[in-house]
Amino acid sequence: MHQPHDRARRLHPETRSVSEGFDPELSVMAVRPPIYPVSTYAFRSAEEMSHWFRVALGREQALPGEHASLIYARLNHPNAEMFEEALGSVEKGCAGAAAFSSGMSAITTALLTFLRPGDVMVFGRPVYGGTHELLQHILPQWNVEVRSAPGDDLQQLRQAVEAAGERLAVLYLETPANPTLRMLDLSRTSALLDGLRAARPERRPVVVVDNTFLGPVFQSPLLHGADVVVYSATKFLGGHSDLVAGAVSVRDAELIARVKATRAFLGTICEPFTAWMLQRSMATLYLRMIKQSKNASKIVDVLKAHPAVERIHYPTLFTGEQARIFASQCSAPGSLIALELKGGREAAFRFLNALRIVRLAVSLGGVESLACHPRTTTASEMEESELQRCGIVDGLVRLSIGVEYWRDLASDLTRALDAAGR
Ligand SMILES: Cc1ncc(COP(=O)(O)O)c(C=O)c1O
Repeated sequence: MHQPHDRARRLHPETRSVSEGFDPELSVMAVRPPIYPVSTYAFRSAEEMSHWFRVALGREQALPGEHASLIYARLNHPNAEMFEEALGSVEKGCAGAAAFSSGMSAITTALLTFLRPGDVMVFGRPVYGGTHELLQHILPQWNVEVRSAPGDDLQQLRQAVEAAGERLAVLYLETPANPTLRMLDLSRTSALLDGLRAARPERRPVVVVDNTFLGPVFQSPLLHGADVVVYSATKFLGGHSDLVAGAVSVRDAELIARVKATRAFLGTICEPFTAWMLQRSMATLYLRMIKQSKNASKIVDVLKAHPAVERIHYPTLFTGEQARIFASQCSAPGSLIALELKGGREAAFRFLNALRIVRLAVSLGGVESLACHPRTTTASEMEESELQRCGIVDGLVRLSIGVEYWRDLASDLTRALDAAGR
């Protein structure tokens, strides 16, 4: 809607997240943005109309000082633009962002932008189940060779990158990993592509990072060597479990133009009402994520000594290399907890069935606390060997901690742990 100016760029992201991207002057001085449920936009003349089509197709440049005109809502619309500016203002190192109809449509659109038949793509395992399906089963049908290596094993990732050589187009990473929260070192992993980036400037391979679990507030992959960041905006960005959406942000403006061009033809932009809800959620993003992270840290301190608990996976409890990575690239532990219970699946189910405040549901990052059993839900399509390797054991439960009063949550979880241990 309006270009961020220098003063706004100097403000703290917490300030920018509230109003960036919206100018009351453009909307009858309303202090919050209206919704534009509009499919098509009018032009003042036939000449203007054909000029903007030529600009949209890259055949002509916009004139200096000219603001891009809207054409059709599958290409772009004011609510998407306002959300994109708000996200771009809080994502550190960001040169541009794009809104999508789901996390999966954001990931698919980004990958189809950077991959061509015959390319090799390497990814760090594990990744979210839907992404895993796309990479392992759909992209190979389009003659993309997809290879993987354990995401927390830099040596094996290096070997996979070296073996792909000049054919490598995308290195795809997710950290922390779902559901075990294992982290990979973004700077060192992204640096594996330095040689190829320099050798092939005309078609540089890109590092794509799924930042859904900690970003954009607690982790900034674009400052750690990533070219493209993808989000399920259904999670923390939306934050209220009342919408499905996705987002992409990039380090280099040329990349976002390419992603948006693919989006325009695939039709994967999110519609105006969802984009408006997303922008509305941006104003409370810091509040929610900080409160949720503090809640989770306090709850972990209560639960860690419970006799029914075998192990808790949570960044403040990491040791060794994992603790080093957490300290080097994250500013807070976040609100996801992976709880490993003694007694396997039966104990896990007893625990889940005894919860009263925390609801049983997949998804995460909303204001309400949720719990699920990854092995029989979100990770159920993974092969047994992969589940074992990733530590997704029968006794593992994933918690997404919300904004409720933490002592109520801690009591609910403690009572359920008592039931699990019986
Ligand atoms: C880490 C991660 N990435 C991507 C996705 C896909 O997002 P969506 O469900 O919005 O399509 C999910 C969904 O759970 C996820 O957890």
